[in-house]
Amino acid sequence: MPVIALASPKGGCGKTTAALLLATELAQKGIGVTVLDADPETYIDTWAKLPDKPPSLTVKKSPTEQTILDDIDKAKQESPFVIIDLEGTANMLVAYAISRADLVIIPLQPSDLDARGAAKALQLVRQQQKAFNRTIPHAILFTRTKAAIRTKTFTHISQQLTQNKITIFKTHLMEREVYRALFSYGGCLENLDPKDVYHLQDAINNARAFAGEVISMVNSPHTPSTRPTQELEGVLT
Ligand SMILES: Nc1ncnc2c1ncn2[C@@H]1O[C@H](COP(=O)(O)OP(=O)(O)O)[C@@H](O)[C@H]1O
Ligand SMILES: [Mg+2]
Repeated sequence: MPVIALASPKGGCGKTTAALLLATELAQKGIGVTVLDADPETYIDTWAKLPDKPPSLTVKKSPTEQTILDDIDKAKQESPFVIIDLEGTANMLVAYAISRADLVIIPLQPSDLDARGAAKALQLVRQQQKAFNRTIPHAILFTRTKAAIRTKTFTHISQQLTQNKITIFKTHLMEREVYRALFSYGGCLENLDPKDVYHLQDAINNARAFAGEVISMVNSPHTPSTRPTQELEGVLT
């Protein structure tokens, strides 16, 4: 019953997009998923009101600092997968959600500003590991990358992460218009007509590869970073 939290204090790094793609890819396979939509913009809850939401996907919006722990426990009873789309800030709700997570996914657009946001997210995970005296598996997900373009910033950030033994998803969520559009179309990528969407199959393959990697990470808890990272101050800055 894994609880997967998408976290980074950096707004716009791709938490909500990654949460929806993960949720829909799991749900369209018939896997039960509950999304706790803790993003104040409630984009996933809004998406859920559009047609073609897979029946095995439930969205619950607006958990609060007071309710989040109970909301997570309840969702765990109801669905095999719980996905929490967190707000782009560091508050108690975010800290509680991280404390309960079996995997924290930290999306990172390869830019300096996003890297600082990811460094803060890594620090928050480290604090929660100390506070609750448990290891919290976590991994960085590169988002909005462009095929065949490896910028200097990207290379620099990847090297720093690797040096600090922080797990990075092999799959990047590439920059794709359809990932944006899904929030207005509703449903899953698989419901869309390839005639209407440029490179739809590539987008589906990319989202599936991401979901597949998440499943293997939660099934093998030693894959993602679990060590209490010691020197994060210098990481990614
Ligand atoms: N892989 C992607 N391809 C295209 N657009 C993306 C991708 N990831 C995020 N976006 C766009 O970037 C913006 C911020 O993404 P979002 O997922 O809302 O970030 P966050 O939840 O971290 O604030 C949105 O307009 C979203 O549509
Ligand atoms: Mg968001």
